[in-house]
Amino acid sequence: MKLTKYNILVADDEENVRVLLKEILEGEDFFVEVVNNGEKAVQAVKNHQFDCALLDVRMPVLDGMEAFLKIKDFSPDLPVIFLTAYGSSDIAIKAMKKGAYDYLTKPFDIDELKIKVKKAIDLKEVTQSAQLNRSAFKYTADEIIGDSSSMQEVYKEIGRIADSDATVLIMGESGTGKELVAKAVHNHSGKKNNPLVVVNCAAIPESLLESELFGHERGSFTDAVSRHLGKFEQASNGTIFLDEIGDMSLSLQAKLLRVLQDKTFNRVGGNETLLSNARVLAATNRNLESLVKDGLFREDLFYRLNVVTITIPPLRERKDDITLLVAYFTSKYAKKYGKEIRGVSPEVNDLFLKYDWPGNVRELENAIARGVIVTSSSMITIDYLPKELVAVNNHSKVISDNQESQSKKLNENGGIVSLPELIARVEKETIIKVLNECEGNKTKAAKILGISRKSLFNKLRQYSIANEDTQNEE
Ligand SMILES: Nc1ncnc2c1ncn2[C@@H]1O[C@H](COP(=O)(O)OP(=O)(O)OP(=O)(O)O)[C@@H](O)[C@H]1O
Ligand SMILES: [Mg+2]
Repeated sequence: MKLTKYNILVADDEENVRVLLKEILEGEDFFVEVVNNGEKAVQAVKNHQFDCALLDVRMPVLDGMEAFLKIKDFSPDLPVIFLTAYGSSDIAIKAMKKGAYDYLTKPFDIDELKIKVKKAIDLKEVTQSAQLNRSAFKYTADEIIGDSSSMQEVYKEIGRIADSDATVLIMGESGTGKELVAKAVHNHSGKKNNPLVVVNCAAIPESLLESELFGHERGSFTDAVSRHLGKFEQASNGTIFLDEIGDMSLSLQAKLLRVLQDKTFNRVGGNETLLSNARVLAATNRNLESLVKDGLFREDLFYRLNVVTITIPPLRERKDDITLLVAYFTSKYAKKYGKEIRGVSPEVNDLFLKYDWPGNVRELENAIARGVIVTSSSMITIDYLPKELVAVNNHSKVISDNQESQSKKLNENGGIVSLPELIARVEKETIIKVLNECEGNKTKAAKILGISRKSLFNKLRQYSIANEDTQNEE
């Protein structure tokens, strides 16, 4: 520890933030210099030696990110903490990727601020920050929505590990966004211009999965009429994402372990040993540790995969994110279906905050998509929600009583369905409803539904909607 005081630079265009930060940090016995824009922050770093800098993201003249990049050139080891009012994944990941030490979202917690500044200074002292990757990187937007503190940790972790070649294990319940996180890791890595190849290990029959992953030589089995390049080869120089890895058979696990250990593999029926340089990301919603205990997952593979783990918290543990997610999905689906929807009613909002979301973000997304499609007003009201959600209002105990079995049930049977299936269901329900309202008059029904009579007939046939005169009327 040095005897002189530590110097902290604060750059923020808001006077009250500057005053507040100065007071807090001086209270901790730091020297504090405050400036009101990014340009002055860069100047200050050129003129003085600082131990930590706090930069607002939005500032006039030079914004925080621009100032940060200049500061990094000049003083690469200075730990920088961003202050942002916009806790979006984009800014967070971008800042961490560029080598920022951390960031705080406004309004910030004073204790958290003090801890972060002190930790940043410690880190500088051991000059670890110099190791952070600073390669120039073209930024791509992610669509991970949520600014709860647990999601912020996820963004930071993505930023920290994206550029390394480390194998990453992404864990989280069904529908929490594991695939989105895998995409973000790839998009923020140096391999982003090369392929990201996704393999769903649970969806492919075991007999085919080996050839799907590693390819096969012509004639290696009955249907192998020609040589086939596997996903590991397709992902050459890029990333391979092994989804639902917990469902992989033990014999394939051994082969996967081999690729992870020495990067080699053989095509099915092939003698040539091939090399893979694909970065491996894996995801599962199962508890790999207990699979290991039950002898269903190789322990050695588990440790190989578990080098870096990103755990996405379930939605019920970050209900702060619900409002943002609702706004995001409402505008996404309103746009998609050409509707003007302002949002959800206050009653729906309350219900969303009460509900346990066993299907996580996917379930929320489906509820909103459905609401947008079926609502006839500019608002999604409680009448347009799936019944399992509304049930929570009447018996809010139901789900928490038996949360685990409930969530299992919803995941395994049709409680949570794919979007196309959901849309088909809603479409069918809507057609039946409108037809009933029009007492079977198809011309009228088609008009109300905003489709041609012909497409109404096609849909009646597609959904096997019984209607005596459907056959004769064309
Ligand atoms: N934070 C988020 N912001 C925006 N959309 C999200 C978020 N998390 C999940 N989604 C959306 O929810 C759906 C499910 O996400 P995803 O497929 O990534 O989940 P998953 O964890 O892989 O689920 P599963 O285990 O069932 O495969 C997708 O449509 C995805 O776009
Ligand atoms: Mg998935």
